Amino acid sequence: MISIRAALKRDADVLPEVERSSGAVFREYPGLEWIADDDVQSADQHRALISQGIALVAEEPSAGTVGFLNGEFTQDGLHIWQIAVRLDWQGQGIGQRLIAAAREIAVERGAKALTLTTFRDVPWNEPYYQRQGFRTLAEGSITSRLREILERERQAGMPIERRCTMMMQL
Ligand SMILES: CC(C)(COP(=O)(O)OP(=O)(O)OC[C@H]1O[C@@H](n2cnc3c(N)ncnc32)[C@H](O)[C@@H]1OP(=O)(O)O)[C@@H](O)C(=O)NCCC(=O)NCCS
Repeated sequence: MISIRAALKRDADVLPEVERSSGAVFREYPGLEWIADDDVQSADQHRALISQGIALVAEEPSAGTVGFLNGEFTQDGLHIWQIAVRLDWQGQGIGQRLIAAAREIAVERGAKALTLTTFRDVPWNEPYYQRQGFRTLAEGSITSRLREILERERQAGMPIERRCTMMMQL
């Protein structure tokens, strides 16, 4: 039985490992295998989002923390920085529940949208978010804040032609 709850500072230390495990799903994906070994959010970054942003964890009684979602409120709405589910727990609807819980918080706080950046075409990224109710923003609809995020991703070495910005209107 999996529960979703607000993350606490004491959760931060295990979350980098959850993200590392989640990224292994990219190991077999042509051209993006390197994501599996890419940097993950540090425990300090998690602590900052737990205190200043929004942070949720998915917990299973015997396995412990199996997933998380974190983000921040911006002028565009709630921006999701990361969502990750341990490899051995993927495909069981945990990601969907984390997104639904974030959506609920965003609605309660009066945000007008959920936003994120992700990889185009990867089955568990752009098409998955589209099935959850996000739409991919066309070039002319990308807000200046989302454009800045893409630019930072480009500077960090991301293949920017494979990235897209997405929004779910609330
Ligand atoms: C994205 C992620 C959090 C989803 O978590 P999850 O608990 O597996 O999500 P769900 O069980 O709700 O759904 C998984 C979806 O991915 C799809 N999927 C997962 N693995 C897949 C694979 N190897 N091939 C094809 N589709 C796959 C499933 O079809 C399913 O979509 P559907 O329910 O609409 O059919 C998880 O895949 C993950 O941690 N990925 C690595 C990190 C990542 O990409 N984070 C997002 C950054 S923007």
